[in-house]
Amino acid sequence: MKTILYIKASPRNERSHSHTTAQAFLSAYQQKNPQDKIVTIDLFKESLPEFDNFAAESKYAIMHGKEKTAEQVKKWSQIEKIIEQFKSADKYLISLPMWNFGIPYKLKHYIDIIVQPSYTFAVTDSGYKGLAGGKPICAIYARGASYDNDSPMDFQKKYLEFILGFIGFTDIKTVLCQSMLTDVETVKKSQEAAINNAKSIAIAF
Ligand SMILES: Cc1cc2nc3c(=O)[nH]c(=O)nc-3n(C[C@H](O)[C@H](O)[C@H](O)COP(=O)(O)O)c2cc1C
Repeated sequence: MKTILYIKASPRNERSHSHTTAQAFLSAYQQKNPQDKIVTIDLFKESLPEFDNFAAESKYAIMHGKEKTAEQVKKWSQIEKIIEQFKSADKYLISLPMWNFGIPYKLKHYIDIIVQPSYTFAVTDSGYKGLAGGKPICAIYARGASYDNDSPMDFQKKYLEFILGFIGFTDIKTVLCQSMLTDVETVKKSQEAAINNAKSIAIAF
């Protein structure tokens, strides 16, 4: 039995294009792999620990090879639990809206928690090394407008792919829900295309 971790990064539900597409992905996946388990992290419902002074100082302690204080160790365990949950999955699905050309702040918060030295990346003599990869991941991006791969305005897909690559993911599948704030007919067509694309990725995932 494999576990697929679904990270939902839109606060919207049935009106969310990214989440609707992710639901289609998951039902196609579950039909093909009924024995597998789906674990969902709904980032707008979770209360993630603040990445505050103690967390930042703990991170620097790890990077500089220093002992953490007893209080830092205690509080760091909250961060470790979330990293463990992330790393224990076999496959990943992330659905996210574009917000102000980037990713929603709740997803950035989650990334700031899970991207940690010695847990998800290492600093080696030959540079950074991702420690969380080697597993398949699919990202479903919704945007109001349409952006091609070279668009200088897309900090959503470019950033997510960069940070996933940084922690070691190389097998990243993409589903785009583009032009979701345009005319009804275009939105309908784009949503249908995204769902079909998501389903075909899901059955081979
Ligand atoms: C706070 C906010 C910021 C947004 N910024 C952008 C943007 O920079 N570019 C864009 O194309 N669409 C933008 N949109 C539109 C959303 O990306 C679009 O409605 C998308 O469908 C949202 O994803 P969802 O349907 O999964 O919630 C924004 C929407 C919100 C609520």
